[in-house]
Amino acid sequence: MQSTLDSKIHAGIIMDGNGRWATRLGLSRSQGHRAGVRAIRPIVEAAKDMGVGTLTLYAFSGDNWKRPPAEVAVLMTLLKSYLAEEIETLVAMGVRLSVIGRRDRISPALARRIEEAQARSASAGALHLRIAFDYSSRDAILDAARRSRSDTTREEFARLLTGGAPELDLVIRTGGEQRLSDFLLYECAYAELLFTARLWPDFQPGHLREALAEFRSRQRRFGAAPAERVAA
Ligand code: FPP
Repeated sequence: MQSTLDSKIHAGIIMDGNGRWATRLGLSRSQGHRAGVRAIRPIVEAAKDMGVGTLTLYAFSGDNWKRPPAEVAVLMTLLKSYLAEEIETLVAMGVRLSVIGRRDRISPALARRIEEAQARSASAGALHLRIAFDYSSRDAILDAARRSRSDTTREEFARLLTGGAPELDLVIRTGGEQRLSDFLLYECAYAELLFTARLWPDFQPGHLREALAEFRSRQRRFGAAPAERVAA
């Protein structure tokens, strides 16, 4: 895991609230998820322009399989169409796309689409967009533990877990809940957490700007004592 001391901010967003957004407007949950997808592009564009280096979006957790099959199917279809419809725009913006999470429970066609999108954008470097899909942090940690040895160092373990992705500086969760829901638990060891009641489809670049300003105003100590105040 890289140090968080570089100037780019490595952020994650738990995109919660599509269902409530839809219900409030008398729409179906599927329409809420579609609105959730539409909210992604402006945030990615803004993140790139606002000094974010890695942006990880939580789109489908390992536990989301507990949802009704029809809703699961909609989310699968949405990822497939997102990849097909967005990849050229992402490449044009200089965004590299990766999808983290299991591949063995999604359809081979979706897995293929993911591989193609990743390959297509592999050389882009302005922002690394990671979509967490069928992702469970506890499963990822267990998998890395199984591949480690008894004398594996912390740095080696982090590499086994993340493939070299940086630890998170900031996690934003929309939708009012205040929990991490199995999202990048190891990589969030020192992340600043920011919770907003705003529902994901309503989350706009200005809200990201506010979140980044709040992040920059926080004093991060990573366990060290507070810096001494210089006497006036
Ligand atoms: C949680 O809101 C949201 C999800 C489980 C899915 C998030 C998905 C998207 C934003 C769209 C899919 C994106 C891609 C790239 C495929 P919820 O549905 O639980 O809302 P609620 O808490 O209001 O019910």
